[in-house]
Amino acid sequence: MKIAIDGPGGAGKSSVAKALAAKLGLVYVDTGALYRSVGLFMRRAGVDTASAAEVSPLLRDVALELRWTEEGQRVILCGEDVSEAIRTPEASMDASAVSAIPEVREFLLGLQRDMADKGNVIMDGRDIGTVIMPDADLKIFLTASPEARAERRFAELRAKGQDCTFEEVLEDIIKRDAQDTGRDIAPAVAADDAVVFDNSGMGLAETVDKIGELVKVATCGEYHE
Ligand code: DC
Repeated sequence: MKIAIDGPGGAGKSSVAKALAAKLGLVYVDTGALYRSVGLFMRRAGVDTASAAEVSPLLRDVALELRWTEEGQRVILCGEDVSEAIRTPEASMDASAVSAIPEVREFLLGLQRDMADKGNVIMDGRDIGTVIMPDADLKIFLTASPEARAERRFAELRAKGQDCTFEEVLEDIIKRDAQDTGRDIAPAVAADDAVVFDNSGMGLAETVDKIGELVKVATCGEYHE
């Protein structure tokens, strides 16, 4: 089984995907972590993360590996586990910047396709249903209003002790949406055959239940109450 979950930041893709992966015995692949790691590498190298001319030549030095442990997916960048370091607001913006560079997308394509080809996966990202797994059994485009997403992100960041205001988080969300949906290559849009699901004002448990119903329909062809 292959399930694709795309959508903007803060829509709850990773929480939903993790819960469904556990329920269905699938491997959860968070593709955003790959773009975040490339962004972190470029930030540390001191280059402009939005510049294809500066970023592309350094890609040959980026060694990325995904591992699965009891804590879930870990991402290893040049031998260092950067799974936590990539979860800052700065890393989000850098990931969005590098993800608009065609050479970066090409660089990460093989790794993602290999995982898709193995099957039994639930992958989340922006172009999973359109580019990485166009043959997925189920494609969900999970979205919510910018305000609802900013509220969730703000709560997450505050819980981690990060110093930020709601307005800053909302501003980042709006900017990242514009970058991710407006780029020329693999923009973050719903595939024609995706189910668009808006979970504004809905909790995680309800979202997981509703998407679980869609999985049943996709795998059994029908759903009985
Ligand atoms: O899902 P995320 O917030 O961790 O993703 C970080 C950035 O990476 C996002 O702003 C756009 C980019 N991305 C992408 O372009 N394609 C993907 N499949 C996953 C993420």
